[in-house]
Amino acid sequence: MKNFSFHNSVNIVFGKGQISKLNSLIDKKSKVMMLYGGGSIKKNGVYDQVMTALKDHQVIEFSGIEPNPVYETLMKAVEIIRQEKVDFLLAVGGGSVLDGTKFISSAVNFKGYTWDIMSKNAPLTEPTLPIGTVLTLPATGSEMNANFVVTNKDTQEKLGMNKPEVLPQFSILDPEAIYSLPERQISNGIVDSFIHTTEQYLTYPDHGYLQDRQAEGILKTLVEIGPKYLNDKTNYDLASNFMWCATNALNGLIGVGVPQDWVTHMIGHELTAFYGVDHGQSLAVVLPGVLEVKRAEKAAKLVQYAERVWGIQEEDENKKIDLAIQKTIDFFESLGVKTRLSDYGINSDKFNDIKSRFERRGMTAIGERGTFTPDDVVKVLELRQ
Ligand code: NZQ
Ligand code: ZN
Repeated sequence: MKNFSFHNSVNIVFGKGQISKLNSLIDKKSKVMMLYGGGSIKKNGVYDQVMTALKDHQVIEFSGIEPNPVYETLMKAVEIIRQEKVDFLLAVGGGSVLDGTKFISSAVNFKGYTWDIMSKNAPLTEPTLPIGTVLTLPATGSEMNANFVVTNKDTQEKLGMNKPEVLPQFSILDPEAIYSLPERQISNGIVDSFIHTTEQYLTYPDHGYLQDRQAEGILKTLVEIGPKYLNDKTNYDLASNFMWCATNALNGLIGVGVPQDWVTHMIGHELTAFYGVDHGQSLAVVLPGVLEVKRAEKAAKLVQYAERVWGIQEEDENKKIDLAIQKTIDFFESLGVKTRLSDYGINSDKFNDIKSRFERRGMTAIGERGTFTPDDVVKVLELRQ
């Protein structure tokens, strides 16, 4: 196991009725901006619960943060915050609202061109604004990590960043807030959580025995409850477990001391940037290709995955790996998430543009062993046509 330091200070407030705790979680002296998306929270009662809890606070609203949050939209919020002297940000929504709010927090006092935060990893030398979240879509883990992903419409870029300064102070996870999710978002969330886990698990063995078992626990739980939850959307226990799996898949714990891959996410972000496919959909297409292209280097972990997650009893190692990859594809398809580029009307036109982006950004030796090249990106895409 590699050396590591692990610190995660997010106060997770989990369970039924917990949105009311906002009243005591945010200082009454704060001027709060409540940020949300396209309005799902007005239909499912979450908006009302938040407003009731904050009736003694001074609150202004910013709505319209879109899925795959857009830089230009977020900068509008930054302007308002600067004028109104807001001092606390409350993000209410899915990963896009949470990520957008993290970017806004980092940009408010930033001196210079704010897109540099994303494109150049510009340091945050000025104070960021404190953040709290109310999560309505389990998927990204954004409620308990410091990552954020922002899209620039002008340049058609979707870039990810990690800044400890924007880690939320608290996140409220009320499983009842997810009952209103459409099937497509549930399926995307299950796939995203699954693949956050595989990015930190399907690498090579490095004596992280506990981390392996934790990752397998998340994967097996998602396989067990995912399809059940799709058919029983107001089942509190299934909703709770789905939510907690998603948080644990990307709050940093399962990845400590072990190798990590993240190639599937890097390629997936390009598919979203160029074609607008949902984040979860993009990953379901790409992962099987990455496992195929790197099957020799990942063989030991793929065999362990086959045995422990899928219970595959098969003598021949190659067959075992084939079956594990097929089971993974079948699982995504069983959730209604398609796994081929052609399913989304995507052809090979942009394969070379995507490859060039990896080259231009210096992402030429990535993955857990630093052996994944821009040519491998094209191989993966070709396999998934
Ligand atoms: O905008 P509203 O009206 O709220 O509707 C949203 C949106 O249309 C809807 N929704 C959310 N909660 C709902 C609901 N509808 C009904 N009932 C509810 N309770 O769902 C739609 C999608 O929401 P979005 O926030 O975009 O989904 P998700 O949570 O999957 O977030 C995706 C974004 O997160 C990034 C992705 O790249 C993408 O931009 N990621 C962030 C990560 C992180 N911060 O660590 C890691 C991930 O790998 C990922 O890259
Ligand atoms: Zn993801």
